[in-house]
Amino acid sequence: MRKVSVIGAGNVGATVAAELARRNVADVVLIDIVEGFAAGKALDMAEAAPIVGYSATLSGSQDLEAVKDSDVVVITAGARRKPGMSRSELLSINAGVVSSISKEIKKSAPGSVVVLVTNPLDAMCYVAMRATGFPRERVVGMAGALDAARMSCFVAMELGISPADVRATVLGGHGDSMVPLPRFTTVSGIPVTELIAEKRIKEIVKRTAKGGAEIVGLLQTLSAFYAPGAGAAQVVEAIVTGKARLLAASVWAKGEYGISGTFVGLPVIIGEGGFRKIVDLALEADELQALRRSAEAVKASIAALEAET
Ligand code: NAI
Ligand code: 2OP
Repeated sequence: MRKVSVIGAGNVGATVAAELARRNVADVVLIDIVEGFAAGKALDMAEAAPIVGYSATLSGSQDLEAVKDSDVVVITAGARRKPGMSRSELLSINAGVVSSISKEIKKSAPGSVVVLVTNPLDAMCYVAMRATGFPRERVVGMAGALDAARMSCFVAMELGISPADVRATVLGGHGDSMVPLPRFTTVSGIPVTELIAEKRIKEIVKRTAKGGAEIVGLLQTLSAFYAPGAGAAQVVEAIVTGKARLLAASVWAKGEYGISGTFVGLPVIIGEGGFRKIVDLALEADELQALRRSAEAVKASIAALEAET
């Protein structure tokens, strides 16, 4: 079995670990700074195995060196959004956390693919790429899978059908400027624009872009973790099984869509070794403009980080 380390055994990290174990695709090591937290959660999940029927092993550690020789390292460690707090307020706190974790990954798991979850997502990808020195193919941010799942969920609710038939596309940074794309959202192959009135589609687009805040507003002291955990597991599964998927993920752009020098959510083919191709969609002028505007917003947060360090 492949080895996946999940750093941060909080709500998202524990959910990723449980999802991966259930999919039986990798042995999972959970790591958390709080004594006993990762070990306790991993043991609890291991004890579920006889009931659920997976054979993946789960272990927990307080020691970052436990990432040793991982095939994939998922970073969920850090602070999360509190009510009224923007993702970018998390910027400096989490940059420090992600940077020190990334240095350990560089040392102990130099061949791994790093999947970022910690917010602000796109800027944290930059911090990880800078600290690991890994090629861009091996540093990806999970957000597009989550944002697309949210949009698919809202489309399925609107049509009263199974979410299994819906495939949505959401590009851009994981923030208020994200770009849900109805033209690239389909229901059993039929563009959603053929099935739902324009006004309702606009409302779905708006709800998707504010999807994280909607959950924070309800949970108050927590942010979302079931869908984010499932999204991260979807990305990790593609990497460890080599069953390549076409998903949106945050990647370092080098001229694609006229964007360069920043991480931003783009459609990629992802599988063994990380992402292998950025897919070039024929975006209309307003879609492209929104994507570039979103990339500029991420660039500004990366510039703010650079100014700090
Ligand atoms: P949480 O507070 O439940 O878990 C975070 C865990 O990180 C805690 O257990 C904490 O002890 C641990 N931690 C902190 N510093 C650490 C370090 N240096 N080494 C190891 N562990 C450390 O938070 P939750 O809900 O799991 O969220 C985690 C992160 O994921 C947040 O930044 C949140 O904003 C982000 N997030 C991102 C999403 C995305 O789509 N990219 C979606 C949902 C959450
Ligand atoms: C979300 O979208 C908090 O970024 C997180 O739920």
